[in-house]
Amino acid sequence: MFITVKLTVLLLGLSFCYGRRRYHFDEEPQPVRASKYGSLWPLPQAVKISEQSFKLIKNSFAIVDSKESSAGPSCSPLQDAYYRYYDYMFGSAKHRGLSENRPGGPAELSELQVWITSPDSECDSLPSVSSDESYELSVDQPYAILKAPKVWGALRGLETFSQLVYEDEYGTKTINSTAISDFPRFAHRGILLDTSRHFLPVKIILATLETMAMNKFNVFHWHIVDDPSFPYMSHTFPQLSKQGAYHPYTHVYTATDVQMVIEFARLRGIRVIPEFDTPGHTESWGNGQKDLLTPCYSGSAPSGSFGPVNPILNTTYDFMNKLFQEISTVFPDAYIHLGGDEVDFSCWKSNPDIQKFMDQQGFGKDYSKLESFYIQRLLDIVTTTKKGYMVWQEVFDNGVKLKQDTIIHIWKGTEQQYQNEMARITSAGYQTLLSTPWYLNRVTYGQDWLGFYKADPQDFKGTEAQKKLVVGGEACLWGEYVDATNLTPRLWPRASAVAERLWSSKDVTDINDAFSRLSMHRCRMVERGIPAEPLVTGYCTHEYRGI
Ligand SMILES: *[C@@H]1O[C@H](CO)[C@@H](O)[C@H](O)[C@H]1NC(C)=O
Ligand SMILES: *[C@@H]1O[C@H](CO)[C@@H](O)[C@H](O)[C@H]1NC(C)=O
Repeated sequence: MFITVKLTVLLLGLSFCYGRRRYHFDEEPQPVRASKYGSLWPLPQAVKISEQSFKLIKNSFAIVDSKESSAGPSCSPLQDAYYRYYDYMFGSAKHRGLSENRPGGPAELSELQVWITSPDSECDSLPSVSSDESYELSVDQPYAILKAPKVWGALRGLETFSQLVYEDEYGTKTINSTAISDFPRFAHRGILLDTSRHFLPVKIILATLETMAMNKFNVFHWHIVDDPSFPYMSHTFPQLSKQGAYHPYTHVYTATDVQMVIEFARLRGIRVIPEFDTPGHTESWGNGQKDLLTPCYSGSAPSGSFGPVNPILNTTYDFMNKLFQEISTVFPDAYIHLGGDEVDFSCWKSNPDIQKFMDQQGFGKDYSKLESFYIQRLLDIVTTTKKGYMVWQEVFDNGVKLKQDTIIHIWKGTEQQYQNEMARITSAGYQTLLSTPWYLNRVTYGQDWLGFYKADPQDFKGTEAQKKLVVGGEACLWGEYVDATNLTPRLWPRASAVAERLWSSKDVTDINDAFSRLSMHRCRMVERGIPAEPLVTGYCTHEYRGI
């Protein structure tokens, strides 16, 4: 007891020092000095902005397909984006009725030409982990040119172009002569939302996707079901949501809802990866599927409560087979996230049938072997759907045999621990994805974006080949204390810090420059109607006026 107390005090003391060091005042950004990169966020790989400026006039400016482009008027992601960005650039001026066409001033820029250079524009495809998101942007007279091999790079470049537009002292929309060459540092840049702990209406999911595009995120990790509720409406097993959702009609995602999310995301170059986490985190599944979960025992009798998925019944695997066949057709991405985290063994331990099975299999008292037995069979099932899979790190830690293209998702530990884990996973030749430093549901007083910003997924001991196995990272917003009322301000602009870390070059680390750009980027999100919270004391020219 005494030792425990002393240890706790010691640990508290340590974490306090650690916290102090990380957020020491010397490291707080200095008061705003305008960045030579304006309000660009995330910072492109190469940028040259000159002092020569042009004005943009609402009624004469147009975004058009270049004559040479392989994408035409039927390219929906592009046509959609032209409208969206035109609106973002000029919409607010309309409301304020500014005289934007005052005589004199800088020369006019009347056109942005968008040129998809490769023969296959991929307009009708889904984005994937190997999508080319590179682009080149030249803003000059007589017109600006955005060149990209694929539609995905053009979408990123349109966002960048819109970020170059600012209002001069007369309120005239202005853009400086600029040359940009850009591509992402990591291929997988995600946001995790949790729709089980609280139901999130489709509208707020779409608003999140829209804001993700403003930050060049490209993966929506949909942690769709978990212990508290099962809002996914399955056509194979309709009882799952009927019995397992918070409400069978109002707190569910219908097939149409899911399709809408996937298409809205696709138009923004964002993948949707669903997570159906098993064998733990499945309490809500048990309501609508008899015998799926393990009955827990108290002494020699069932206690009436249930634990993880029951791994010893054949019916379990029949169910998983049918469910994952459905999921793999409903969600078109090449990957499914299978969870596999935090399996609580106490219920398995209490159950005499499970103990018998353990003996038969020769697992002894090692319940991680039973977990591996389950996961192994699940992976075999998912392999038949031709999907790749992502799993939380425990699956690797427990020694489950994995396909070489598995992506292992890291969420645990201190900085030292997750860096060691990355070294272990990549030395075993697996791809990995980092989330540990980016649990945005954890809120602390002050500018916590600095901590998110400083974490780098390639800062671990390993060879260049190992570093290449890092596919990226995800910012996670777990839902215990989050629903549609507070999701957006909790996510933005804190997730924006992660967005720059994952997109921009590794050497983009100047926090004063980042502070200046991020403050302006946050105000731009606000101007676009996104209630992103402030970084610190200050104001925006166009404040949020409520909904
Ligand atoms: C854009 O040009 C103006 C002068 O026309 C200059 O004052 C400003 O600093 C330039 N902006 C950037 C980001 O370089
Ligand atoms: C479960 O399936 C296995 C192999 O398919 C079979 O050998 C076994 O008898 C089945 N168990 C039950 C209880 O049906």
